[in-house]
Amino acid sequence: MILKVARLGNPVVRQTAREVDPREISSADFQRLLDDMVETMREYDGVGLAAPQVHVPKRVAVLEVTDHPRYPHIERIPLTFLINPVVVPVGEETEEDWEGCLSIPELRGKVPRFKAVRVSALGRQGEKLEFVARNFHARVIQHEVDHLNGMVYLDRMKDLRSLSYLLEWQRYWMDDLTVRGKAKKGKAHVEAPSKGASS
Ligand code: NI
Repeated sequence: MILKVARLGNPVVRQTAREVDPREISSADFQRLLDDMVETMREYDGVGLAAPQVHVPKRVAVLEVTDHPRYPHIERIPLTFLINPVVVPVGEETEEDWEGCLSIPELRGKVPRFKAVRVSALGRQGEKLEFVARNFHARVIQHEVDHLNGMVYLDRMKDLRSLSYLLEWQRYWMDDLTVRGKAKKGKAHVEAPSKGASS
């Protein structure tokens, strides 16, 4: 089922989400929540979604980046479930890049994030996950974990001067998108107008 996405201003977006009891993970209700989060993320072309964004203040996030005509050069991320994630930076290096958020529609802004993070979490079946994420993958995870702490990307921006409406972003700033990384800059490489990535 596609869930309603809470937008900025709804108190649930600013709430600190609570830990999931691992015994809850195998329950039908919880598994349905995970399915619904995936369906909702895909419906709105998100690359990640945190449970508070669908009015559930629990420490759960999903992420996925598949082949998508709108983001032809973005790094792929397999469908991942993160329950009670703990994220620790690996090194001090940070990088600024564009982010969007399904709870803050129509806007994009440049956000500094750690380039690499170590992630510990439980997976969909309650199994232990432990991995290092880098670059765009690390960015999406930091964005989602912020949601679990009642934070949005606007809070992380050094200043708000890069904040752009989607249309203006596409017109003036899209070529600046470093997540398109390896591809050469220029519109010739974009198969369709990019919306950038929201999560
Ligand atoms: Ni978001």
